[in-house]
Amino acid sequence: MEPAIEEVLRYRSSFTQVGRVTTVAAELSGQVIPADVVVTPWLLSANRDEREFPDPDRFDIHRSGKHHVAFGYGIHFCIGQLLARVEGRVAVGVMLDRFTEIRLTPGVPLEFYSRGIFAARNVPVTVRSA
Ligand code: HEM
Repeated sequence: MEPAIEEVLRYRSSFTQVGRVTTVAAELSGQVIPADVVVTPWLLSANRDEREFPDPDRFDIHRSGKHHVAFGYGIHFCIGQLLARVEGRVAVGVMLDRFTEIRLTPGVPLEFYSRGIFAARNVPVTVRSA
């Protein structure tokens, strides 16, 4: 369960980017970033970095480690990440206990939030009870 949830967080990070303003000029991988500019680091892109995640576009619940940045990084690292992880485990656990089969309902297009958060508004599924 745990690695599966981590892989969802990596593969479909619900916050795609964060925003920062530079206070001093900085150099990053040979790129000079001047002071007083807005920088938009893409978490989604970092989480698909092939130097960190072999075959990054493959959804693989058997990957190990929690080194994705779906909860950010550094001093603003998500304060709610433990709660979010527990909620995920409980919700998926209840679903797996309750249903022996869960399938996407065919032919119903998924509707996504248009901005802010990278997530489906609802996911129609067909289930079979345990
Ligand atoms: C899957 C669920 C969640 C995701 C993907 C997520 C993601 C993030 C990310 C990427 C940041 C860093 C923002 C930045 O660097 O500018 C952040 C910060 C934060 N998150 Fe979450 N978060 C989640 C759930 C929660 C929950 C459940 C709470 C509270 C109960 C929470 C509270 C916060 C707060 C207060 C910050 C700001 C921390 C700071 O600026 O020092 N988050 N979150």
